[in-house]
Amino acid sequence: MALKGLADVTLIDIVEGLAQGKALDLAQSAPVEGFHGRIRGTTDFSALAGSRLVVVTAGLARKPGMSREDLLAANAGIVGPIAERVAALAPQAILLVVTNPLDIMVALALQRTGFPRQRVMGMAGVLDTARLRAFIAQRLGVAPTDVEAMVLGSHGDLMVPLKRTILVKGKPLSALLPDAEIEQLLQRTKDGGAEIVKLLKQGSAFYAPASGLVEMAAAILGNTRKTLPVCAWLEGEYGLRDVCLGVPVQLGASGIERIVELELTPQERQALAACAEQVRQGIKSLTTLPAATT
Ligand code: 2OP
Repeated sequence: MALKGLADVTLIDIVEGLAQGKALDLAQSAPVEGFHGRIRGTTDFSALAGSRLVVVTAGLARKPGMSREDLLAANAGIVGPIAERVAALAPQAILLVVTNPLDIMVALALQRTGFPRQRVMGMAGVLDTARLRAFIAQRLGVAPTDVEAMVLGSHGDLMVPLKRTILVKGKPLSALLPDAEIEQLLQRTKDGGAEIVKLLKQGSAFYAPASGLVEMAAAILGNTRKTLPVCAWLEGEYGLRDVCLGVPVQLGASGIERIVELELTPQERQALAACAEQVRQGIKSLTTLPAATT
């Protein structure tokens, strides 16, 4: 974010020295990279005060073989209290959640901040879409930016890539690759996070998630009204309510400016409803966690 000149950035971590060290390292790249924003690191949550945009990446990452849902109890205990502090210290902030299991953590952040749904959202769709675009570009040997795609739904196995809308410089992907190959690329996208976790053995993806959230932050801080797949609380859009799910959202200075309703096929609607059902179960399970009652 600093590199793109979007904002002054404050890193907060509970581990003494970690955020301070990272902030110094990043700030020292400024003369070479030519950016001007301030970068600070601290363990003191009061540095949140007055923030316009708060990004929450805190939490445990998956270990090989784990699903994102396996992180629910531990990460709810981290994200819940952070959301409460954001509400107290930066009551006007827009909250952008990255912690997994993503869709459920967004719902938790919404509950704990009490913010309107315009100001609480999650980053996953941009990442899942970027993975799909990258795989297609690699397969076809074209520029990744020339591949247009959109992945909706939850950040997990049930995610919904809109296969029929994928375009490569205006050409439908179905005219460029056989269906079986397209299906393989869609499956690799669904497994994209796990593929990296398995390779790294410790921790999960960093760079593409960072790019995804920076794209969202740029749309919010620059008030661009760009439409991106964003995890948002639904109140009847796509026939769904009381659930967080990845849908196309126009982002601007007030956060979620508009949820864009695309025409979906019956199968796509069904797939989205299946995501909604799974996320609802996760949201329900939040109430039985000890962290939620403290
Ligand atoms: C991913 O998909 C960490 O969920 C994140 O890589």
